[in-house]
Amino acid sequence: MKANELRQLYINFFVSKNHTQISGKSLIPENDPTVLFTTAGMHPLVPYILGEPHPGGKRLVNFQKCIRTGDIDEVGDATHCTFFEMLGNWSLGDYFKKEAITMSFEFLTSKEWLGFDPAKLSVTVFKGDADVPPDEESANIWRSLGIPDERIYYLPRKDNWWGPAGKTGPCGPDTEMFIDMGKTKCSPECRPGCSCGKYFEVWNDVFMQYNKKKDGSYEPLKNKTVDTGMGVERTIAMLQGKSSVYDTELFLPIIKIIEEVTDTTYGSSGDTDKSIRIISDHIKASTIILGDEKGVKPSNLGQGYILRRLIRRSIRHLRKLSPEGSSLDKIAEAVIGIYGEIYPELVNRKEMIIREFNKEEEQFSATLKKGEHELEKLLPNLLKNPKKIIPGRVAFRLYDTYGFPLEITEELAGEHGLTIDREGFEEAFRKHQELSKQGADKSFKGGLADHSEMVKKLHTATHLLHKALLIVLGDHVAQKGSNITADRLRFDFSHPEKMTPEQIAEVEEIVNTQISKALPVSFEVMTLDQAKAEGSIALFGEKYEEKVKVYTVEGFSKEVCGGPHVTNTKELGTFKITKEQSSSSGVRRIRAILT
Ligand code: ALA
Repeated sequence: MKANELRQLYINFFVSKNHTQISGKSLIPENDPTVLFTTAGMHPLVPYILGEPHPGGKRLVNFQKCIRTGDIDEVGDATHCTFFEMLGNWSLGDYFKKEAITMSFEFLTSKEWLGFDPAKLSVTVFKGDADVPPDEESANIWRSLGIPDERIYYLPRKDNWWGPAGKTGPCGPDTEMFIDMGKTKCSPECRPGCSCGKYFEVWNDVFMQYNKKKDGSYEPLKNKTVDTGMGVERTIAMLQGKSSVYDTELFLPIIKIIEEVTDTTYGSSGDTDKSIRIISDHIKASTIILGDEKGVKPSNLGQGYILRRLIRRSIRHLRKLSPEGSSLDKIAEAVIGIYGEIYPELVNRKEMIIREFNKEEEQFSATLKKGEHELEKLLPNLLKNPKKIIPGRVAFRLYDTYGFPLEITEELAGEHGLTIDREGFEEAFRKHQELSKQGADKSFKGGLADHSEMVKKLHTATHLLHKALLIVLGDHVAQKGSNITADRLRFDFSHPEKMTPEQIAEVEEIVNTQISKALPVSFEVMTLDQAKAEGSIALFGEKYEEKVKVYTVEGFSKEVCGGPHVTNTKELGTFKITKEQSSSSGVRRIRAILT
């Protein structure tokens, strides 16, 4: 079974169980400062999991592109991917454990669907702790479906619990499903979750049934939700009897091009294979990030920095395989060949993607040269050191500032009779990595975005601001990004020049007038065409469902949006723009607060 077929089967199965298919979203979250990328299928659905009505109803199904960079160092083994696709079904206050687990079991084992042998299925459930009792309900449902006790594993919170990322909010136990690949246990303790390759994780059903309160205690939630996730890459690997995701059609065409451009053979040596896997994973993720509807470019900040690291790490490994020339554009084309049909944004942006890869490769070659030069300058001093060791922090600076691969530093050092303090390098590297990891994922495992009252108010203020900018500056104004924390809103929009103080004052005045008019805010569900016909603001390039929610600030603005919002503008207080600056070429950025 190929990935295309798996996606379709999954959707068909849940549509046959009365779910509405919704589209996947951009990799770049809107209005959520807690993560840089969409890291799970549930992420774009957080407002609905928290109780906002969804226009598609209470049973939803989709597939979602995801990026996880938290385990970047594990990439290169059999199962970790930076980019992956998650299939998911949701119950928003509709069915709960019994139906969710029964449907998972049917889809996995029925001959009509995936047809896995039920005898190979092991499951895990939450073991319970001082705060929350064991999830016997899930365990009993598995028993009733014929899974014997020895294949039901009770595991602690770190394995079988989801959320919340913050101190409070919805959370609950999950039950994970694993397929036994038939290997013997690596040790008597070997169990689902062990990394030896015996157990392949195939699906996770999360049951949000508690609200974690400020005092740390848990109370049952009224609006219980189900969030599930099945990884496309791992599942097709299993269905195809492959022990590695890299042996499937989602990687092989990329690997073939890497073999060609580096004149290597996949499967010939452990080190070469690892480099090939890293390049194919990273260039795939980079291509998809560059090609996203909300396209990100390489930079030294946020998402752009993650992208840059992925690309440079690939170039580094390409150079390891073949010192001369590299061919990111050809590899990227192979990625677009695999995913172009399912993610047409990649085809539409192909030229830009190729251009960015070429640009980054050129720039990196230049920094690589500068780094070499820098090392030469340092040599006389380094040679005076009686131990003939290059300190780790120097090697790390070359790596970090100039993107200088440690291998090259080592090689050049060797020519001058020097070695490198590898431990010092690793230490500096680890410290840096921890910092960027915190910046990267902020551990979204369980991360529910901030939907506090203040964030809600700033979200409504963002709609007022957007409309006011259209009025004051003109129709060319289009939203390019929005990011809200409890302290401020940040809004990026297309506009060719700096706003004048008069324009800023006029925008503030329009927004504050709407606030003082105490306008009701409400939403309606309608088709996208109807929304547009009514003059609603909708984001260009955003993927929308067939039915959308349109938030109206009575008599002032209409905007397609998932919510949540306040119910009346009078709740907002006073609106003030604190900064207006350039964000990128042709895009301005406003920061504003409510006092
Ligand atoms: N949100 C759950 C996961 O990502 C389903 O595993």
